[in-house]
Amino acid sequence: MMWSSGRAAPPALIVTLMLSFGALIVRSDVAKTESRVCLAGVANYTLNTAIGLCSQAVLQTLRVGASGTVGYVTTATTPQTTVLNLLPTFCDRRVAYPYLQPYLAVVGAGTDTTVANMLASATIRANFINALVAFVKSYPNCVGIFIDFSGLTVSQAAGYSNFMAQLFTAAGAASLSLATSLPWDSLRFSDIYYNPTLPNLPFNVLRTYDDMYDTLTSTVHPNSPLFAMNAPFNDMSKTIYQNLFRWVIKGFSPGNIILGIPMYARSYTVSMAAQFGSSGTMRTTLATYCQALLFSTRNGVQVTTAGESISSSNTLAYVFNTFAGVDAKLNFAKSNNLGGVALFSLSTSGGQNAELLRYVTSVLAPTPPTGYSYPVATTPTCGVTITFPTTVPLTTTAQPTTTVAGGTTTAAVTTTLAGATTAAGGATTAAG
Ligand SMILES: *[C@@H]1O[C@H](CO)[C@@H](O)[C@H](O)[C@H]1NC(C)=O
Repeated sequence: MMWSSGRAAPPALIVTLMLSFGALIVRSDVAKTESRVCLAGVANYTLNTAIGLCSQAVLQTLRVGASGTVGYVTTATTPQTTVLNLLPTFCDRRVAYPYLQPYLAVVGAGTDTTVANMLASATIRANFINALVAFVKSYPNCVGIFIDFSGLTVSQAAGYSNFMAQLFTAAGAASLSLATSLPWDSLRFSDIYYNPTLPNLPFNVLRTYDDMYDTLTSTVHPNSPLFAMNAPFNDMSKTIYQNLFRWVIKGFSPGNIILGIPMYARSYTVSMAAQFGSSGTMRTTLATYCQALLFSTRNGVQVTTAGESISSSNTLAYVFNTFAGVDAKLNFAKSNNLGGVALFSLSTSGGQNAELLRYVTSVLAPTPPTGYSYPVATTPTCGVTITFPTTVPLTTTAQPTTTVAGGTTTAAVTTTLAGATTAAGGATTAAG
């Protein structure tokens, strides 16, 4: 089988790279940067139209269960029965949008006992792979499996490599696709995660939608800057460009990597208009992209650099990827021939129209797949007129809620960034 041959030895790899760089110069059929991979939490997607702007959508819904069984991402308000009732509403969006490729994701962390046991034991691994492939196969409108493990350790690298190789074979035999996420921190993780199966997958999502500076909870900080900024954000290892290239050097072709982009906002309580580096109290709950857009229509956008923007009043600041900010990230993805971008997430978009996804689609893939048209927007509710695929006038001026500390809850969903714990808070309606 073609995927069972090992990676080329380093000298051969260099030659291969040089040949393919040479080929890039003369070929005009280089893969285009046009994928929009949409991460999504458990919700009812029956009426969701924004998902029709995605090329692939990934529902973060499964876990590794005990003894190699399939488990589920549940919350107090979304027990297993609800998850199982809602799951088909996601896969079945492929009926309305036949070009959409829905995947079911297995989320987890190296510290989860079930994940650790599965990676360490050949028997449990085989059981899990059988159960997972059979489970996903039972949703014929979903096309594949997405593995989204965070925080694997050096001692789990060999188990992960075996798991991916065996799952790739089993999924292929069942005509299912397989894709993964890669941690953004390649300095720490590339030797652990990289294995010969990954470059053969249709795509690998680089989790650069995670907040690289999330430990700085008292400082207004960028989420995922393209390049180093002024101190204290001058850490080269916390930049998109350095992390991307370390993964490429490991052995990925750029077209195999999808650049993660946050489709959420960080909100901070501040005591004066904020700059990057200002004091501010970060809310751990993510604000929606729509909240930041609404706020910025009243308060303006004061800073855009390295793909990251601030909209601030004297009491509240939002850090998010404005359209102007995201332009820099899209330029980076296109000029490096990446496969596309991944948006985290439909659940934190905050509006039915998913404004950022819509904007990104208008830039990367303005022409819909042959024979189809993109879903039109409904009345905009996030303060900006929508121009794609057609203009939709702004008919209401929504008033943003500007209180963060004073008791008013501004976030519509409860979502955390750790791969293992992502779940839509409301869980019964899709925010995106
Ligand atoms: C999902 O939403 C649709 C439309 O509102 C509704 O008919 C359906 O019963 C819902 N499904 C679930 C499982 O809640």
